[in-house]
Amino acid sequence: MIDLSGTSYTLSPMTLDDVQTVHTIEEEIYTAPWSLGAFVQEVRDNRSAHYLVLRYKPYEYEPFARRMLPRGLRHHLNSPHNDPAILGYGGFWLYVDEAHICTLALRESWRGRGLGELLLNSLLDAALKQGAAFATLEVRVSNLRAQGLYGKYGFRTVGRRVGYYTDNHEDAYIMSTESLQDSAYQALLAAHSQALQERLDADEAARSGSRIGS
Ligand SMILES: CC(C)(COP(=O)(O)OP(=O)(O)OC[C@H]1O[C@@H](n2cnc3c(N)ncnc32)[C@H](O)[C@@H]1OP(=O)(O)O)[C@@H](O)C(=O)NCCC(=O)NCCS
Repeated sequence: MIDLSGTSYTLSPMTLDDVQTVHTIEEEIYTAPWSLGAFVQEVRDNRSAHYLVLRYKPYEYEPFARRMLPRGLRHHLNSPHNDPAILGYGGFWLYVDEAHICTLALRESWRGRGLGELLLNSLLDAALKQGAAFATLEVRVSNLRAQGLYGKYGFRTVGRRVGYYTDNHEDAYIMSTESLQDSAYQALLAAHSQALQERLDADEAARSGSRIGS
């Protein structure tokens, strides 16, 4: 499990307050986004669903600053449609002992810093704690970046769904891990967690160093 206490990031369960922004990000990224209603239903009603939201603490709005603004301008500070503190999100459905990663996404300008990995790592950690024996997902055959991340975490292609995506009829690879409970998988997760922790802590130190230096 990654300790975010020394970083500028937080991870928390997705709530109904988050879904408008999550949906806005979803629409920015995907050609066939989930609807707002789908997110509402997932968060409110789906007991087998587990979603996490990643936030950047410096962008979290200050209730005091918000109160000081005239009422008509408050939405600029933290519009529910686009809360800038929310950087990304991910989730899985737990079906008996299978954790199916159903979504994973990060705002474009925040990619390439290990934050997509942080989300995936945390989803897998949560799935393990909830007793998942293995994890599965679908990914576009053209999405090499996501496949790279999933490959790093031990997902292997086990099948292909032809024409799976409704927007362009692209095929999906079905990917799956080996048993999450195996010592080999636990060792892989532990090694990646340690490296990611060091990366996030080093980035934070560099950021605060540059703040002090400026
Ligand atoms: C997929 C996504 C969440 C990954 O997050 P990210 O911040 O870009 O990736 P990270 O910086 O966390 O990279 C982690 C690992 O992913 C892999 N990876 C990252 N970029 C890659 C690329 N361009 N090609 C191949 N592998 C790549 C690497 O293994 C990397 O580990 P490394 O840094 O040790 O090399 C993000 O790019 C995204 O939101 N994409 C759009 C939505 C999407 O495609 N979601 C997945 C749907 S199945």
